[in-house]
Amino acid sequence: MTLGDLNKQLIEILSTCLFVESPVTEVRLILSKLLKKTPSSFLGLSLQMEIDREVKEAAFQFVNERKNGRSVASILGFRDFYDLQFEVDDNVLIPRPETEFLVEYVLNLNIDKEIRVLDVGAGSGTICVTVAKHRPKWNVEALEVSEKAINILKRNVDSNNVNVNIIEKDFFNFEPAHSYDLILSNPPYIPTEDVMQLLARHDADDPMLALDGGSDGLIFYRELKEFAEKFLNIGGLLIMEHGFDQKKSMHEIFNSALLCVVQTLQDYAGLDRVTIVKKIG
Ligand SMILES: C[S@@+](CC[C@H](N)C(=O)[O-])C[C@H]1O[C@@H](n2cnc3c(N)ncnc32)[C@H](O)[C@@H]1O
Repeated sequence: MTLGDLNKQLIEILSTCLFVESPVTEVRLILSKLLKKTPSSFLGLSLQMEIDREVKEAAFQFVNERKNGRSVASILGFRDFYDLQFEVDDNVLIPRPETEFLVEYVLNLNIDKEIRVLDVGAGSGTICVTVAKHRPKWNVEALEVSEKAINILKRNVDSNNVNVNIIEKDFFNFEPAHSYDLILSNPPYIPTEDVMQLLARHDADDPMLALDGGSDGLIFYRELKEFAEKFLNIGGLLIMEHGFDQKKSMHEIFNSALLCVVQTLQDYAGLDRVTIVKKIG
């Protein structure tokens, strides 16, 4: 079979899936990986090129997995995030553009001195690895409970050549030995019932542990409030991603005697997405 025929057949398969927005782009990414080309150099290949049987079989297998709802990032095994590349698989949340927005805000704080930073629920390491790469003076720690996610996190720390101290612990039992200047988190924030529906409809193929924020989606934020009251330095910031409809709850949870909400920012799509809280007392 030629590359042209294979490309056409794969695009036809993905075109039948309503959730695939760009079958042409996704097939290009999958074939580039299998042919060991970058997506742009793939465009220079001759459509008459004969394709090996193994490549053809692997391509059909990937496309069928995609058709069954697996994300293209998890099929490819990597995802670009900010200006870095992250290994991903089914054990971590597939990095989202909304989280790049949080990272951009953090980097724009322009803090150019040694500070202590904690990323709660680090997953593949998108937040902690990217800030550590851009702010090498910061002491960055990453807290994660899932052993499988930690394996990926360690590889992303190594491949991006950064210094991040990984702590394998459950946040709900975490008592650090020191306090922090910045606490960052994109915690699980979807109500349990909605997660079940998302997974059943194949609208997400992330692990339950990365999505499930308890019955009202807010369980991690309540814990983050308690934690920041104890372990955030006065003047320090807690910066969190949350659901587009959770701004009101964030303000209710985080305005307390010791904490105050500085602002809630809207993401690139104009949705309430990141809330910044300051320790005031
Ligand atoms: C929404 S994901 C965010 C991953 C990553 N920070 C990102 O933004 O791409 C939340 C992460 O929190 C982790 N997590 C869930 N419960 C946890 C707990 N009790 N303690 C620590 N981490 C937890 C999950 O395993 C998952 O990796």
